[in-house]
Amino acid sequence: MNNSLRAAIAGVGAYVPDKILTNADLERMIDTSDEWITKRTGVKERHIAGDGDSTASMAVEASRRACENAGIEPGELDMIACATITPETLCPSSACYIQRDLGAAKAAVFDLSAACSGFVYSLAIASRFIEAGQFKNCLVIGAETLSRFTDYEDRGSCILFGDGAGAVVLKPTDQDAKGVQYTVMHADGNGWDFIWLPAGGSKMPTSQQTVTDRLHYLKMRGRDVYKFAIEKMQWLLEDCMKACNLTPDDVDLVVPHQVNIRILKSATEKLGFPMDKVYVNIDRFGNTSAASIPIALDEAVRTGRVGPGSTVLLIAFGAGLTWAGAVVKL
Ligand code: UT7
Repeated sequence: MNNSLRAAIAGVGAYVPDKILTNADLERMIDTSDEWITKRTGVKERHIAGDGDSTASMAVEASRRACENAGIEPGELDMIACATITPETLCPSSACYIQRDLGAAKAAVFDLSAACSGFVYSLAIASRFIEAGQFKNCLVIGAETLSRFTDYEDRGSCILFGDGAGAVVLKPTDQDAKGVQYTVMHADGNGWDFIWLPAGGSKMPTSQQTVTDRLHYLKMRGRDVYKFAIEKMQWLLEDCMKACNLTPDDVDLVVPHQVNIRILKSATEKLGFPMDKVYVNIDRFGNTSAASIPIALDEAVRTGRVGPGSTVLLIAFGAGLTWAGAVVKL
């Protein structure tokens, strides 16, 4: 174990499908309005997978961009962690298809299922392998095709979700003030039915009845999720700042899971973060679960909102229930 190593973000990349579903489109599909969706969620439009898109295909494109940004070839990757709750297939993992298509022959690969917290969970795990000196180049992906598991007859959930993928390449650094400084992960399985997908697993295998009953779509208790999310997002911010001895002034940008604009505002403003320190792109992408943080981080880096030396807080909350945070020095 080499205690002086940290995992630095060496490259970022993202990909979203071309097809866009606007609030006006949804107005034609369900009993809703652009005004209601915008006010309650902050979403104006979301990208939706086309016929040729899937979780692995979007992840591959995001990963190619992240590897290029990091200046490495996919063949140099030692590990691929793909956070997703909408995998390519139940078996094998999405990460296997991604490895094949990238040509990352020597990488150990796996999917991680922690819903919207999945990217931060995966980042924490990959960081430990780098800190331990076992791996040099780790690819951490968040990728979701939520549209294939969304019930477009359920107006309480379909307005939120979008598709896409984001990825980062982690590399070791011996600079203490660079890279992943702190990570925290939690879960509470008592909240299993706040957001869940009933059918298609071992508990309720696929049958004609499950299809008729629309049980292959995500179910969400929106109000309950809402309350819990604010509480946990605030807790994560406080915990991350305390662990690294930071005040809001020391933080350049909070990159939160794009859960709902009202949740983001309530959780951050109370702790002294003005909204210009909180990255928001939910208006253009909706809630893309595990993909939302890496898509947002990619945008923040590429548009110059953050750069070398910036202190960034990543916070996420999602189904499970799960919640996770990270403090990263770019
Ligand atoms: O990554 C984690 C994923 N999950 C989340 O982020 C969910 C967090 N929760 C939320 O974002 C919000 O709870 C929602 C946006 C899903 C819903 O907003 P809300 O303010 O909690 O609405 P509500 O469910 O309490 O419903 C209020 C009213 C209801 O009508 P009544 O009973 O007051 O007459 C709903 O039927 O709004 C109605 N409603 C809608 N109206 C127009 C629910 N969905 C819609 C809709 N358009 N799409």
